[in-house]
Formats: sequence, C-alpha cells, structure tokens
Amino acid sequence: MGRSYRIAVVPGDGTGPEVVAEGLKVLDAVADGFGVETISYDLGGERYLRTGETLPDPVLDELRSVDAILLGAIGHQDVPPGVLERGVLLKLRFELDQYVNLRPVKAYPGVSLPVATVQPEDVDMVFVRENSEGLYVGAGGVSRRGTGEEVATQESVNTRFGVDRCLRYAFELAGGSDRRGHVTLAHKTNVLNYAGDLWSRAFAEMAAAYPDVSTDYVHVDAACIYLVEDPGRFDVVVTDNMFGDILTDLGAVIQGGMGVAAGANLNPEGVSMFEPIGGTAPDHTGRGTINPLAAIGAVELMLRTLGEREAADRVDAGIGLAVSKMASMRAGEMGFSTAEVGDLVVEGATR
Ligand code: IPM
Ligand code: MN
Repeated sequence: MGRSYRIAVVPGDGTGPEVVAEGLKVLDAVADGFGVETISYDLGGERYLRTGETLPDPVLDELRSVDAILLGAIGHQDVPPGVLERGVLLKLRFELDQYVNLRPVKAYPGVSLPVATVQPEDVDMVFVRENSEGLYVGAGGVSRRGTGEEVATQESVNTRFGVDRCLRYAFELAGGSDRRGHVTLAHKTNVLNYAGDLWSRAFAEMAAAYPDVSTDYVHVDAACIYLVEDPGRFDVVVTDNMFGDILTDLGAVIQGGMGVAAGANLNPEGVSMFEPIGGTAPDHTGRGTINPLAAIGAVELMLRTLGEREAADRVDAGIGLAVSKMASMRAGEMGFSTAEVGDLVVEGATR
C-alpha cells in the first residue's frame, strides 16, 4: 500500500463549488505515486437555509480525523452577516486550532498587476497571520442595545502562548530554504500599548533565538504604504489576526487580485484547511467566469503541507503556464472560462 490521503472537501457557497471542481481536477492530474480519497461535505448557506445547521458536531468530529480540508467559499446573501462566517469558517479554524493563517503573496512572471508601480519580481512574501486569537475570539459585549446609550465593546485577546507559537512558525519559515531569512512584525505598538507591547517583547525574544534570521518592525498603516511602494522589502510578515486579515487583502491585490490568492489555515500538529481567500463572488456564480487559480493554489499549498513537494511543484508549473496565457486574473476578463483555466493548469502540470 502506498501513501494515501483522505481529503474533506467543502465546496460551500457561490462560486466555491466551481473553483473547487477545478482544484480537484488538478489534484487528480498530479496525484502520482500517492492516492487521494475525497469526502464531500455539504456546509454553507444552502444547508443553513434548509436545516438551520451551520457546522453540526458530528461533522466537526469527522473533520478531526481527515488529512486535510479543502474549502471553497462560505457566505450567502439570504443569511445575515456573521452567521456562516462564525458558524462555519471561524468555527473550523478555532475548533481545529488552526493557529497560523499562511498567505503567500507572489506574482507569477508575466502576470499583469493591478497596481502599476509594482513589479512582479518584487512580489514574493508570505504572511503569517495569527489565526486563533485577537479580535476574532468574540470577546466583548453590548448593553442597552438599540438605545441612544448603547455600549459595545470588542476585545482583542492576545496570549503569550498564542503569540509565541505564531512567531515561532514565522521564524522557522523564514530560516528555511524556501525563504530569504527575514521576518517583519506588523502591528500598531504606538497605539495598542498592551497587545503591541506583548507582541514586540515576544518578537524580540524569539528573534534572539534565531540569530540567522534578520528582523524589522513596521506599523500596520505604514505596511500598507510599503506593500504598494516597496513590496520587495518583505519576506515573511507576521501579524495579528485582524491586521493580517486586512493586509492580506491588499497583498492579494498586489499579487494580481483575489482570483489568485490562496491561503492555508494551519495546525502543524493537527488538521489543516486550505482555501481560496476570495469569497463567494455572487455576481459570477454559475457563469463559468470566476478565476479558479486561487483554489488551485490552495491545492498546491495542501500538497506542500502534506509533504508532496513534487506534485506541488507541478501544480505551480501549471499555474505558471495558465497565467502566461490568460489575458487577466480578473473574473470575466481572463480570456478563458473557469474550466478552461483548470485545463491549462493540468496541461502545464503534466507535461
Ligand atoms: C478571510 C475572511 C474571513 C476572515 C471572514 C469571511 C470571516 O475575510 O478569510 O480573510 O475575516 O478571516
Ligand atoms: Mn479577509
């Protein structure tokens, strides 16, 4: 018996199923020397509207035992904001303790980039977004709701344990052979005097344990400027959950757009989940116009995490070929349909 992986697939809502189908097409084409068993899970807006369920416990328990999860997109126009995000996506991240949200930002050669000043060769960085704490834990509350005296608080929770494990991941990554040995901390220490203080002390101590990794610090607002004006300065960027959420959307834009941005929710000791970060794209749903490269990039990240480096490299070569032929990374402007882009990747991955 050779190696084999059990992959849970959650196509989800909107364009999720369309892009996941292309990801699986590519996975099938590069699965050479190992087996893949996929198990599909119907989670998302349609299920919620039908049954009132978001992520039932028996499903969650099954997901605890797979080798990886591939997710399409979660979100539905007929469901109030937050229900599916908290009930499915964030619940998966938290329950499976996927404490690192890894978001590579890389421009493929020849890709036309939305920001005119950015050169593709300067865009090659990885965001390590803390994924289990911060403003996302749902701490806080409301009183006198709906009155003129309403009070709402939303607290950012930062633990030394949580910050340290995220920083350690970033330093290990930066020191490895795939990166350039530099870590930037992005935060807002000039205003967030408690959380920022914890992060910067933990960062300095972690840096001392990795003498071969160079470091710097940028305020998160300045990081936005640098991402547009000098992206080449970034190698590994580590940051908290909320800042990471925002910075990686900007990162997605400088790398070519949401259509190419993939992310991994990692629990290095447990089950990890891989997703295109673009969302459900309701305007493009069912039209074959959405860019599947982000979902295919998520498959690449999944293969790399599973240790299938050769297969991952083939997916990367396939994406490279597709990018070189596509007119644009934007949905509806690619010059190809969703399935045709998937076919191009397969062609590039298998030759
Ligand atoms: C992301 C998304 C999610 C987040 C939402 C949908 C909850 O924006 O993956 O970046 O904020 O983390
Ligand atoms: Mn986001």
